[in-house]
Amino acid sequence: MGARYGDRTFGEDGGDLMRSNVLAIENVTKRYNAGVSIVGRAGRPSVAAVEEVSLEIGERQMVGLVGESGSGKSTLASLIVRLDRPSVGTVRLAGEDIWKLRGKRLRTFRRDVQMVFQDPYATLNPRFTVRQTLAETLAAHGLRRRDVVQELSERALERAELRPAKAFLSAHPSQLSGGQRQRVAIARAIVLEPKLLVADEPVSMLDVSVRSGILNLFERLGDELGLSMLFISHDLSTVSHLCDRVAVMYRGRIVEEGPVASVLTAPFHPYTKALLDAVPPPEPGAWARDGSLGDELQEAQGVNVSRIVGCRYVDRCPRRSEVCYAAEPDDRELGPQHKTRCYHPIAPGGVSVLNGGAAASAPKAYESRGGANKDREAS
Ligand SMILES: Nc1ncnc2c1ncn2[C@@H]1O[C@H](COP(=O)(O)OP(=O)(O)OP(=O)(O)O)[C@@H](O)[C@H]1O
Ligand code: SF4
Ligand SMILES: [Mg+2]
Repeated sequence: MGARYGDRTFGEDGGDLMRSNVLAIENVTKRYNAGVSIVGRAGRPSVAAVEEVSLEIGERQMVGLVGESGSGKSTLASLIVRLDRPSVGTVRLAGEDIWKLRGKRLRTFRRDVQMVFQDPYATLNPRFTVRQTLAETLAAHGLRRRDVVQELSERALERAELRPAKAFLSAHPSQLSGGQRQRVAIARAIVLEPKLLVADEPVSMLDVSVRSGILNLFERLGDELGLSMLFISHDLSTVSHLCDRVAVMYRGRIVEEGPVASVLTAPFHPYTKALLDAVPPPEPGAWARDGSLGDELQEAQGVNVSRIVGCRYVDRCPRRSEVCYAAEPDDRELGPQHKTRCYHPIAPGGVSVLNGGAAASAPKAYESRGGANKDREAS
């Protein structure tokens, strides 16, 4: 096994899974046994944490994933990094089903796709020094030679802006601040120079004073290492600064997805608009902001989405009409690479795109316009 770490040919397998291709999540559903709610196909109670989700992440693309607590963001992340297996659907990296990878291809996947978790306290072994933490990751990929481990570890720490790197190698997590611990977790995630990084609310547990620096680090690493990234956040201003595209999740579904510039300035979906209305407009360069959602937007946590027949936002939507109760809206592309799931999407200026006027505010108002079929024809 030649450790040609300089040109990122680490293991005996060589080759990149993710050449010019993308990660593709194809119509993925993840059900968990819930102990309550409806009876699933196998005769056991189940609840869908993620339902019929499709999403692509292109090479060097930063994709934000936003949505309130319990909407399925972490579940989707766990399906991408192979911590969990979809109940239905496929996750592909460079066209390959990640659950069909074996041997060298699986090891390459494990090198190419890395995750940074929310809580650096929980993800670092308190008994390990930083050196041991990084060495363990490298050893899992056949890199054990002392000089190689030293060089790669120092390089990763330097990249994570823990300088001088040598001084941090002998530290235990308890000797580091929260921000430094998260930088060690980031160093561990990039030490193998992955292609795709999944970051699940990586700054939300950190002191406000250090968030800005960590977010700038993600931005810089994305540029320098050519990373693709799924960046999960409650904070729309962070996503607007960091990401190229954004997907908005609500109760297990992606309800809107597209370029950050259009989704966050001219949203189609009423839920996206509600999220935006809950957040003050971002100031240029303003990272250190607690963008957590208000109580009203948190209340859907724990809802059993399997019981919902129509649009899952219908109980809170000011634009709802009768059709919204009847069936879940399909995904439709309404702008350049900008999709939404809504019968009455908002146009810039707040007018319904599909009906040519303001949407009905209640089911009765919809009935007066002629019922579900008329609405579907209009759309
Ligand atoms: N292992 C599990 N077993 C049963 N239900 C689960 C499991 N993991 C997640 N869920 C449920 O799936 C739904 C989505 O959870 P998930 O953690 O993905 O949400 P989230 O968007 O990451 O929320 P948060 O913003 O709070 O992190 C929740 O209702 C949760 O209770
Ligand atoms: S208008 Fe209807 S389809 Fe659109 S979000 Fe509201 S309830 Fe759902
Ligand atoms: Mg989560």
